[in-house]
Amino acid sequence: MTASLLPNFRLDGKIAWVTGASSGIGARLAEGFAAAGATVVLAARRADRLQAVAARIHAQGGHAVPVVLDVTDPAAIADAFDRITAGTGTVDVIVNNAGIAAPSVVLKTSAASRDATFATNFTSAWDVSTEAAKRLIAAGRPGSIINITSVLGLGVGVGYSAYAASKAALAQLTRSMALEFVRYGIRVNALAPGWFVTEMNAPFFATTEGQDYLRKIPPGRAGELDELLGPALLLASDAGSFVNGVILPVDGAHHVALV
Ligand SMILES: NC(=O)c1ccc[n+]([C@@H]2O[C@H](COP(=O)([O-])OP(=O)(O)OC[C@H]3O[C@@H](n4cnc5c(N)ncnc54)[C@H](OP(=O)(O)O)[C@@H]3O)[C@@H](O)[C@H]2O)c1
Repeated sequence: MTASLLPNFRLDGKIAWVTGASSGIGARLAEGFAAAGATVVLAARRADRLQAVAARIHAQGGHAVPVVLDVTDPAAIADAFDRITAGTGTVDVIVNNAGIAAPSVVLKTSAASRDATFATNFTSAWDVSTEAAKRLIAAGRPGSIINITSVLGLGVGVGYSAYAASKAALAQLTRSMALEFVRYGIRVNALAPGWFVTEMNAPFFATTEGQDYLRKIPPGRAGELDELLGPALLLASDAGSFVNGVILPVDGAHHVALV
């Protein structure tokens, strides 16, 4: 790559809204986007954790605005967008990253657990993206929406029925929105991460069974959170201006042979 292309990966002057920014992948992407010049809106339920992420960003000279938000509450999403748009500006980049996993086989999965998984992993992305797109269209601005799906949205494993179905639905929503929003200059893509050790799965990967599993998958290891940052910046920034409707696996080839 020539040095003149590198500025296209920056997000100076842009506002990036990251859901699930209080830990794990969301926190790391928010920190990376701030380092790339964006003002980041940090959305999640745990206020103390959002403040800690914001403090780290501010200490690095970046800009962050924490917003305590339950993404399963559509009225709260609309209200948060109103407040951020008025106080900070129109949001240019969305990362729908908030997610939960409650591993369970179909016959043992309760309706409540199934519905909660879909509400957090799928419906919230629909609601957040819709609020963002309406405002971008009204402002006549382009935008980029990034949904965090999963390798389990591409293939399945025993015990992840609701989670895998919610992520596959999110992948199809990504394609649908890409098709409908392209006329407004709004791109919609997804990252499909393989395994990354976060609060969601750390207890399992600390076990012998978890370590054995990691040795068996194609990359032979979990990903490092920073390995998601380059792909996310490509999708978020002008460097990816003609990338649209794509589900990009970031998994060391795990999806090629799902185990
Ligand atoms: N780690 C992996 O191996 C992996 C692989 C593929 C895909 N993913 C996906 O990556 C995303 C991030 O997961 P992670 O691994 O970073 O796990 P994590 O550390 O547990 O992060 C999950 C985030 O989602 C937020 N969240 C959950 N429910 C929410 C709600 N109702 N409203 C607002 N925020 C909510 C949590 O914040 P609060 O609790 O503060 O609200 C937290 O910040 C998820 O969508 C997950 O499915 C992860």
